Amino acid sequence: MQHPILREKEAVGPKPQTDVVLTQRRFPSVWRKAALCIAAGISLLTFLHGWNILPTYHLNAASTKEPKTAGQPRFSWYDIDASPDLIYHQCYDDYYCAKLQVPMDWWRDSEQPGKNFSLAVIRLPAKVPVTDSRYGGAVLTNPGGPGGSGVAQMLRSGRATQIIVDAEKHPNDTFGSETAKYHDIISFDPRGVGHTTPGIHCFPDSLARSSWTLQNEALGLLGSSEDSFFRNWYRSRALAEGCSAATGTSDDGSEAIGEHVNTSPVARDMLEIVERHAEWLAKQAHLARERDNLDRQEKDQTTTERLRYNRGEPKIKYWGNSYGTILGQTCASMFPDRVERIVLDGVCNAHDYFFGSWFSNLSDADAILDRFFAYCHAAGPEACSFYSSTVAAIKQNYEDLLNEIFERPIVVPSSTRRGPDVITWSDVKSLVRLGMYQPLIYSPMVADLLTSISSGSGTLFADFKAMANTFSCPSEDCISAGPFSEECDQGDNGPDATLAILCTDGPGLGDIDEESFQEYWHALQQQSSVLGDWWAHTRLGCVGWKTKAKNRFQGPFAGNLSHPVLFIGNTLDPVTPLAK
Ligand SMILES: *[C@@H]1O[C@H](CO)[C@@H](O)[C@H](O)[C@H]1NC(C)=O
Ligand SMILES: *[C@@H]1O[C@H](CO)[C@@H](O)[C@H](O)[C@H]1NC(C)=O
Ligand SMILES: *[C@@H]1O[C@H](CO)[C@@H](O)[C@H](O)[C@H]1NC(C)=O
Ligand SMILES: *[C@@H]1O[C@H](CO)[C@@H](O)[C@H](O)[C@H]1NC(C)=O
Repeated sequence: MQHPILREKEAVGPKPQTDVVLTQRRFPSVWRKAALCIAAGISLLTFLHGWNILPTYHLNAASTKEPKTAGQPRFSWYDIDASPDLIYHQCYDDYYCAKLQVPMDWWRDSEQPGKNFSLAVIRLPAKVPVTDSRYGGAVLTNPGGPGGSGVAQMLRSGRATQIIVDAEKHPNDTFGSETAKYHDIISFDPRGVGHTTPGIHCFPDSLARSSWTLQNEALGLLGSSEDSFFRNWYRSRALAEGCSAATGTSDDGSEAIGEHVNTSPVARDMLEIVERHAEWLAKQAHLARERDNLDRQEKDQTTTERLRYNRGEPKIKYWGNSYGTILGQTCASMFPDRVERIVLDGVCNAHDYFFGSWFSNLSDADAILDRFFAYCHAAGPEACSFYSSTVAAIKQNYEDLLNEIFERPIVVPSSTRRGPDVITWSDVKSLVRLGMYQPLIYSPMVADLLTSISSGSGTLFADFKAMANTFSCPSEDCISAGPFSEECDQGDNGPDATLAILCTDGPGLGDIDEESFQEYWHALQQQSSVLGDWWAHTRLGCVGWKTKAKNRFQGPFAGNLSHPVLFIGNTLDPVTPLAK
């Protein structure tokens, strides 16, 4: 299904006029698409490590700010107060936003009140009033990551989700229907992430993070050189040791944020959102009754009955992608009798995630690259610039290119718009990884970039990298609030949150010495030449992460639910293969 916003954007996009312009303009249009529909299949840890995924992230972040009505001040999360119930405010044009207070520690022993999180909650309203008998309740979503922003996901793809879960016909055509249902879609920035406060911040401001990321990019991925292991090992430790110490302790002995961002409390937060939303619905029924006149009382009676709030009874409807399936499995296992319907899309193995060592099965990743070669051949030279006369020849050209660039990176002099650059083996590997994560979106771009560097020109690739690397100087708000404040890092802390969540969910991930790590890395390389190095990087992020989660659900990951779970998987998925 095509995303409605995407359709709109494409319609107004610039029409290329000549062949030259076509090549020049192809990227922006590809990028726009990427930004808008990436949530469809966002995979595990999409936010982690390196520039290659940052463009999407930045575009997404930008698109969260995009919808604004002329003349109206832009919505700011700082303008709304947090409260223990859901108080929705109109935001981003036709969405509703609330900040929900939840205790940092749901299971605190002490009677003393402790710290809270203020969860950023966003709702796309149902197409019928909640008092309509066709109102079907709310569907919660999570985009994955971990560290993905539910608010950003909602603005990208909330409408598409609503189209899928709602009745097919427009409400105008279903009056009186018993079966047609229309839903609110609700998402939220999980603890430590995005607009939820406090957030996890490993860097004093976004500029410092960009600078660190750029150094990583220049130094290269695991496998990029003889000493790539040591560079990455020590840099990862520096980040992990500093950030876990800073977020895992508090000055006054109260709760430390880093101990409370793991998946189990987030599952409990979802239950709270559902509970508070049900309470809000009952309030709406009450308000409607007060508004209406007496002769409609009978109808109002049924509405009131239907929307009655009974504490501890509202049930969860949920759709999770990728890591979001881990969150869904956790929630269903912790609160099986509170789950109504649940969709797990791009399924991760909860046991391997929480208790294993992420010795994942990456068997599909290389198969996807093989498909890329095959489809490039089938598409022909007009449609696929990396075309060659046989599939085997295309593959060989790719491998030759990798070998060549490993020895001799491509020198790219500065242009009128950007500085000089060098295109390396790491750059190519990162590009291909991006392509394998989102092949339907990125394949044409991957083909074009591979083709241009094969011909010895790194200009296009350097432009692409430059587009990805955006920097912003600390704002005045940041300077007055000081380093590591929320003001210094608005919307950019996804990668930090990813680490804090991942490493405290799997406390065993960091307990590994250099030698064993190298063995692990080489074993992953055997699993996949496309993703092995990068997957090892992911685990490397947790080496040196010292903080442990305060409350961690230990399983079993099972439960008797009222309805079967709907599992969705791609035939070829790089990191959540069907086989697993
Ligand atoms: C935390 O939230 C509760 C209500 O949910 C509120 O009563 C309490 O004052 C909040 N604590 C702090 C420190 O803001
Ligand atoms: C639905 O009905 C309303 C009120 O009659 C009308 O204004 C609106 O255009 C209709 N929408 C569609 C899609 O038919
Ligand atoms: C689910 O129900 C079955 C049959 O009553 C029971 O044997 C099983 O232990 C239950 N599973 C869980 C995880 O509660
Ligand atoms: C990965 O999965 C495939 C398909 O089930 C299987 O053949 C292969 O042995 C698995 N590899 C590893 C390393 O688990």
